[in-house]
Amino acid sequence: MSYLFWFRILSSNDACSLPEFDQELVDREPWNEVLEALIEPFPSSLLPAVEESTYSTPLEVAVLRLDRLGSPDFRSTPLHVSGNKVFKLAGHLDAFFASPKSSLVSFGGRWSNHLHALAAVAQCLSIPSIGLVRGYPEQPLTATLQDCVDMGMTLKFCDKQTYAKRYDPDWRQALSERYDAWVIPEGGEGEDGIVGFSVLASILKDYDHIWVAAGTGTSAQGIAAHLTAKQTLVVVNAVADQGELQRQWAVTMKSSVACHWEIIDDAHQGGFGKCPAELRTLITSADAAGLPLDPVYTAKLVSAFLERLAKSPESPAVKTLLIHTGGLQGRRGFDL
Ligand SMILES: Cc1ncc(COP(=O)(O)O)c(C=O)c1O
Repeated sequence: MSYLFWFRILSSNDACSLPEFDQELVDREPWNEVLEALIEPFPSSLLPAVEESTYSTPLEVAVLRLDRLGSPDFRSTPLHVSGNKVFKLAGHLDAFFASPKSSLVSFGGRWSNHLHALAAVAQCLSIPSIGLVRGYPEQPLTATLQDCVDMGMTLKFCDKQTYAKRYDPDWRQALSERYDAWVIPEGGEGEDGIVGFSVLASILKDYDHIWVAAGTGTSAQGIAAHLTAKQTLVVVNAVADQGELQRQWAVTMKSSVACHWEIIDDAHQGGFGKCPAELRTLITSADAAGLPLDPVYTAKLVSAFLERLAKSPESPAVKTLLIHTGGLQGRRGFDL
């Protein structure tokens, strides 16, 4: 599986040095150790102050710092591939390698974590990549798009109407033919976006409650597939989609997953990408506590989690894991 190969690239110190593929080595590689090293206690300074007697046993909250799979310093070094993208892109890469196509095309906004990660992967694997960006060529490049260009991605700008066609099979077929490309859906969603999460299965089993932020819900689906009936997945929807994710999940998840799941739909704080003052304050406190958060997804995850704790201080002591899905490169768009 290429994702294991590629997970190996990430777990090596230099994200862009490409080791020789060696299946035997991949099979022996202790992936769990790499992932376990990314688990940290949730900073106690962020937890709501409660009477010590409120909990019969102390809360056990951990964070899986998938953001740390990339370069550790998002301010000075453009991040390579980190967060959920490591797992989301894996299956798409497998599909690309199984296809006769010679390049990769995908879609995203001007601060897209997905395009940024795709550009990095394509650079690592020497695959030509094309990013179709919602925007106009006369706008100055964002730091994200500048990184994409620096990593070798060709950018094509689309106006709103053209970008709206990204789900249109005819348009995708035309793009595939024009660029001899394998077309990856926006955000790396879809079936191929789910399979890579199997690498996380063995570490997830140690937790009762798992929290993750959602845009398309693909990462959450990939995680849910590896949870048991004793576990609960709490999905924090970062998009104000008027219940759309709920509706989709009610159909797709009912029969396919064993775990309990819940979607928190009112944690978007004014909409996708909105970052009100309270969220900025939380991000600043989390920075001080050594937990850098991105405003679009992970800050909303932590905020929703803290709100739940504050509302339900009587909740039993369960082992909780918050999944940090990365996205720190996008922080540069928020003057944080
Ligand atoms: C940092 C980050 N967290 C969470 C998500 C949400 O992932 P998904 O679209 O799989 O729900 C995204 C989008 O891919 C993201 O960039």
